[in-house]
Amino acid sequence: MSTKDYVLNKLLSANGQAISGQDIADELEVSRTAIWKCVKELEEEGYSIESIRKKGYVLHDSPDVLHDAHITPYLKTEQYGRNLIIFDEVESTQKIAHDEAQQEVPNGTLVIADSQTGGRGRLARTWYSARGKGIWMSLIARPHLSIEQAPQLTLVTAVAIIHTLKEVTGLEAQIKWPNDILLNGKKITGILTELQADPDRIQAVIIGIGMNVNQQETDFEDEITSIATSLRIESGKKWERAEIIGELMNQLEKYVHMYETHGFSPIKMLWESYSVTIGKKLTARMVNETLRGEAIGISENGLLQLKLRDGSIRSIYSADIEF
Ligand code: BTN
Repeated sequence: MSTKDYVLNKLLSANGQAISGQDIADELEVSRTAIWKCVKELEEEGYSIESIRKKGYVLHDSPDVLHDAHITPYLKTEQYGRNLIIFDEVESTQKIAHDEAQQEVPNGTLVIADSQTGGRGRLARTWYSARGKGIWMSLIARPHLSIEQAPQLTLVTAVAIIHTLKEVTGLEAQIKWPNDILLNGKKITGILTELQADPDRIQAVIIGIGMNVNQQETDFEDEITSIATSLRIESGKKWERAEIIGELMNQLEKYVHMYETHGFSPIKMLWESYSVTIGKKLTARMVNETLRGEAIGISENGLLQLKLRDGSIRSIYSADIEF
């Protein structure tokens, strides 16, 4: 760890108390001037640090940067988020996570980027990932599940996101099948779950999450402005991404573990309680056909159950939904 990172860790973990420049200099066996230089560099990066004579340095405010020293204090997990790979800019965190997963990185490794130049959504759509405004991340999970159980992880993730938003912001979001998280009917978060598997077992599940956090209306591209929203727009205030990322890890580890140990039933109950899809008449557009009917629930394997006009029930694996 660099001297600057060490100083930052000390400031963050002091929780607003003064830390002595001399003590840190002694611990690291460097000069007090070296510590002072690090403090100046941190101030230039946007940290608000007060220097109090005879006491030391006090951290008053931090910029919303993605740094492991900011995220780790929020973690209550055993594995998720404990190995963080953080980038300034990448094409897609999903792509990096796929490569990393093949290098046998541990369960719960998290790839995060401040911006993506080629963020991917479902059905090969573009995912806009403005610099510094949202959470663009891909979790490498190695769950104890069979290959058949993997698709439901999208629904497990949706439940974990709903609980994260409630916990951190107090906002009550809803789920639109299969993977959209909505606030006031507009999309706040998307999930892209991809599998790496041998013929008989899961190697890794890459859970990509894109969450709009601090965008204002004008930050959205014209084509999505009527369907997308952010936490800032919905709550009227800015949010610290590190806290949300930490809580996402806590909730994801909890609900993936619940799925591994108790199966899909408890997740299904939670998912259905947050769903805007169930009980609605809707149109499901698939690659080869379009069906209209009433969504009556999800099956034990996460498929949407659509009751058609003739009373027959169809299981939908993947579709675009319109109400
Ligand atoms: C969707 O709703 O279509 C899914 C969107 C998933 C976007 C995230 S952002 C982080 C990760 N990297 C990507 O390229 N995509 C996912």
